Amino acid sequence: MNIKKEQIVTPWQVSGEIDYEKLISQFGTTKLTEKLKKDLENKTKSKKLHLFFRRNFIYSHRDFNKIVENIENNNFYIYTGRGPSGKMHIGHLISFITAKWFQDEFGCNVYIMLSDDEKYLISKKLNLEEINKISIQNFEEIAAIGFDPDKTFFFKNTEYISKMYKTALKFAKRTNLSTAKAIFGFNNETNLGHIFYTMIQIVPTTFERDKYCLIPAGIDQDPYWRIQRDISEKLNFKKVTAIHNKLLSPIQGINGKMSSSNENSAIFLDDDEKTIKNKINKYAFSGGKPTLEEHRKYGGIPEIDVCYNWLNILFEEEDNKINEIYKNYKTGKLTSGELKKILIEKIILFIKKHKENKEKNKKDLNKYMYSGKLAKQMWEK
Ligand code: TRP
Repeated sequence: MNIKKEQIVTPWQVSGEIDYEKLISQFGTTKLTEKLKKDLENKTKSKKLHLFFRRNFIYSHRDFNKIVENIENNNFYIYTGRGPSGKMHIGHLISFITAKWFQDEFGCNVYIMLSDDEKYLISKKLNLEEINKISIQNFEEIAAIGFDPDKTFFFKNTEYISKMYKTALKFAKRTNLSTAKAIFGFNNETNLGHIFYTMIQIVPTTFERDKYCLIPAGIDQDPYWRIQRDISEKLNFKKVTAIHNKLLSPIQGINGKMSSSNENSAIFLDDDEKTIKNKINKYAFSGGKPTLEEHRKYGGIPEIDVCYNWLNILFEEEDNKINEIYKNYKTGKLTSGELKKILIEKIILFIKKHKENKEKNKKDLNKYMYSGKLAKQMWEK
């Protein structure tokens, strides 16, 4: 008998085997079509879609067609965020990499929330001072992505709250407890701060009233946008739009979500070469056969192989190269050990560049937070 663990996907919990098609119908989002992607591609400067689109890692959306229709007129801005609960791993960068791609292609503003309040409220052990330290470290990692300092605003909720509070109140007044319970799964043990926090996360969807807000984020964050879309028009705001990426898997298997609470399931942005090699060689779930002889004879299964999947969605830009890897692995020409080696080299290079960019861009942190053109405007509001 084949009993699948029931899938649970909320902003705070991901467990079971995730069926991404089912999430679309469960959440009521729309599948990204080839046609919509083609329309987007035609309007890009580079005439090429980002890897995440090409490999179907970004796969679902809400009203993204409205943005694409008129995107050449700079009709949108980007909002995304991060809950600062500890050091960051590669999975945490996905929405920021996507945001940066849109900024490069279309020149849009980017707003990045650090929800220090949220993490304080749900953490069992961290106090506010500790979270503050983590926030600065996380901002430095995000700055490494290289956003335009005049078109990007980084803010921490406990600091920027006075500018967001009124809008949060407007949404809160129209959201009752039973709705919040149904959408987020809150129960009698949930603390009140956590319940109110959900309204704060919605506020930046209203930062530029005459433009669409586009949110690139994991599909697990979708419940917030559902509330926003129910209420926003009554408050004279536009309905938020979103594109959803799948969740990056842990090293141990292609299902589920990479998690900081299990050191060996994730590649952290400060991992050194030895650690990276060790984690991949020791733990990466392989679709290869147990012996070389069998592998050569029957071939591997790329679809369930973590190394193949990570190369596909994150590290191998070239379409012809990934196709070749797929073919060679499936026919047994490429071994599991060789595949691991390809991935390890790519990760090491990625992390090395990331660390260099972090050192280089640290100096811009002040601009992102306070003194760049957009940041200044946001503080003067
Ligand atoms: N709640 C998110 C987390 O725990 C952080 C976050 C805040 C966010 N604002 C956001 C994520 C907007 C995506 C989009 O990581």
